Amino acid sequence: MKLQDKVAFITGGTSGIGLETAKLFLAEGAKVAIVGSNAERLAAAGDVLGGQPLAILADVRNVEDIERAVEETRIKFGRIDVVFANAGASTVAPLEAITPLYVESNFALNFNGVFFTIQKAVPLMTNGGSIVVTTSFLNEVGMPGLSVLAATKAATRSLVRTLGAELAGRNIRVNAVSPGTISTPFYGKMGLSEADLQQVAASLQDKVPLKRFGLPVELAKAVLYLASDDSSYTNGIELVVDGGLTQV
Ligand SMILES: NC(=O)c1ccc[n+]([C@@H]2O[C@H](COP(=O)([O-])OP(=O)(O)OC[C@H]3O[C@@H](n4cnc5c(N)ncnc54)[C@H](OP(=O)(O)O)[C@@H]3O)[C@@H](O)[C@H]2O)c1
Repeated sequence: MKLQDKVAFITGGTSGIGLETAKLFLAEGAKVAIVGSNAERLAAAGDVLGGQPLAILADVRNVEDIERAVEETRIKFGRIDVVFANAGASTVAPLEAITPLYVESNFALNFNGVFFTIQKAVPLMTNGGSIVVTTSFLNEVGMPGLSVLAATKAATRSLVRTLGAELAGRNIRVNAVSPGTISTPFYGKMGLSEADLQQVAASLQDKVPLKRFGLPVELAKAVLYLASDDSSYTNGIELVVDGGLTQV
């Protein structure tokens, strides 16, 4: 049991990588709070996880929602040992289609959501705690139509280094996990037609040396490593889990 009695706070814990990580954390002995902004998916995730986690409806674009989610976690569990700041989403938009509102809403979710999750959780965190942020393969490769999402992910990668330095004095480590192409509902929410989605998926898969999409559980295992004491001397890294997409 790598997380026996640890308290984990997982944003985006209702689907894909976050949900799989919640499952693995529970199996490793953790007490888990999951956060999602969609009530149906939150209830479904609670069922999948056997009703064990604290399931919190909150939109991480709103700081007040994050504060409330952290407070609910404090009331239920008293502290936080592990933060997995993972919630994220975007749509495909070419340069000419991007508006200030699009940029603002992408940053609100994919950067501010991560930043304020960490800011609000840290006061509840214990010495020896671990923060894991989900970045992206977009930090290493350019993909048309994803300029703003990629910029938000680059910002979170930078944040991991700075907070890794800033929180080291409290013995809180901050690391990132960088997914490649992982089979989750993420792609279905990007506003692509079914035909375009199939084409993008086939082209991405072809670029991966292992010639397949990754499974959410393959990410969850990397998150577990960073969350647990197995990585006790690892701080500020971006652990790439992408079948070699950006590395070979
Ligand atoms: N799948 C990939 O290939 C891939 C590649 C690179 C990076 N990533 C990153 O991996 C992370 C997880 O994505 P995934 O692939 O697991 O996708 P997913 O299955 O769509 O999960 C996204 C999660 O984020 C939550 N979320 C979205 N908007 C939210 C909001 N405003 N407030 C709170 N929660 C919100 C969703 O819950 P609700 O819908 O209930 O709000 C869901 O639980 C994201 O940060 C994504 O950028 C994924």
